Amino acid sequence: MSQVGAGPAGRAAISLPRETGRSGADWAQVLAEVPLFGNLRRRHVKRIASLGRMRRYGPGTSIVRAGDAGTAFFVLIDGTARVIPAKGRARRLGAGDFFGEMALLDDSPRSADVVADGEVLVMTISRSAFGKLVRSEPALSHELLRTLAARLRSAEKTV
Ligand code: CMP
Repeated sequence: MSQVGAGPAGRAAISLPRETGRSGADWAQVLAEVPLFGNLRRRHVKRIASLGRMRRYGPGTSIVRAGDAGTAFFVLIDGTARVIPAKGRARRLGAGDFFGEMALLDDSPRSADVVADGEVLVMTISRSAFGKLVRSEPALSHELLRTLAARLRSAEKTV
């Protein structure tokens, strides 16, 4: 295991295995360190890992573009990305943070660009798998809502 990446809020880095496949199934141990999945049973985290696909993005790449339709949900596994909304200031997301939930939850276009700062590794979960998770995993949905509430408070402070 190597320690790579750290959340912008000073969170401990997520431990990444040296050998990594593209299938999410190899990543259950890594996902167990992501706060969104922190209160889930081990076998549920394994199931989520098997639904995910790992993708790498180079520096400056748009991972999500404002106005696009939402087709996937993203968990940032390594590196940092900037959320750039049409109004208000940009926010930095780091390892263990998630994005891309809004367009899936309210079936509306993407609300902001999300751009990779440097090399970024994300796990993507398809729209349909995300919908099923939100309905079947109350602990995950609760964490999702908690983060959305915190982001709303933060956004209201700065607009
Ligand atoms: P979505 O609208 O699907 O795509 C852009 C994503 O950026 C959005 O989902 C959120 O995940 C994220 N996002 C938008 N606004 C903010 C914000 N103020 N703080 C943190 N993340 C945000």
